[in-house]
Amino acid sequence: MTWPDSESFGIHFASIASFDGQLDVRPFGTAGHEAPEKNGKWTENAQRCPKICEWVRSIGGNFGTVRVLKKSNDIRNLRPIETARSLYHRDTTNLYNSPGDSWIVRLLLHLSHNPESYLLTRTNRDDSSTECRIPLTQGVRILFDADQLWHTVWHPGATPRYALLLSLESSPRINEWLNQQGWSVPDHGRSMATANK
Ligand SMILES: [Fe+2]
Repeated sequence: MTWPDSESFGIHFASIASFDGQLDVRPFGTAGHEAPEKNGKWTENAQRCPKICEWVRSIGGNFGTVRVLKKSNDIRNLRPIETARSLYHRDTTNLYNSPGDSWIVRLLLHLSHNPESYLLTRTNRDDSSTECRIPLTQGVRILFDADQLWHTVWHPGATPRYALLLSLESSPRINEWLNQQGWSVPDHGRSMATANK
C-alpha cells in the first residue's frame, strides 16, 4: 500500500477509503473535507488489500474513511501513560451533520498483538474515574463514539502496532451486525462496544 510520509503524533496512515478517493489520509471535518464522515470512496490502496475491503463491505453499513494506521517503533512509543493522557481528544466526524442525520461512530480493528498497549477513553477528560482501558490485542474490535468520548492510545511497547480504523454511520444494519457478532458493552458503556474475534 502507499503510505504518505506525513504523520500525526507519530502515526502513519494508509488511506483505503477517503473523502474523494484520493490518498489523502485526513479525516472529514478538516479544511476541504467539510462533510459528515460517511459516503467514503475507495482509493487505489483498496486493490492491494482485498480482504480488508471485503470485511468492511461485509458490515453492510455506510462508511467514511477507512485507514490502516502504523504506530512506529520509535522513542515516542516508550512514553509514560501521562504523556498519552495529555493527547486526549475528540474527533469531528459529525461536525457537519444536518438535523436528523444518523450519528457516525468509529470502529477500530486491531491488526497486531500489543496487549501492553491500550485504547484509553474518558467521558470526562478531567475525571480519571471515568477512564476505561481496552488492551489492543490482535483482533479486538472497538466501536466507539469518537466525537463524544475523549480518547487516546497508550503504546509503550517496543514493536510497532497496526490497526484498521474506519467510520460508520449508525443504522439498523449496524445494530443487526453488532447483535450477530456478540458485542459487549463495558462499564463506561453507551458510547462504546467491544468484541474479540
Ligand atoms: Fe481520534
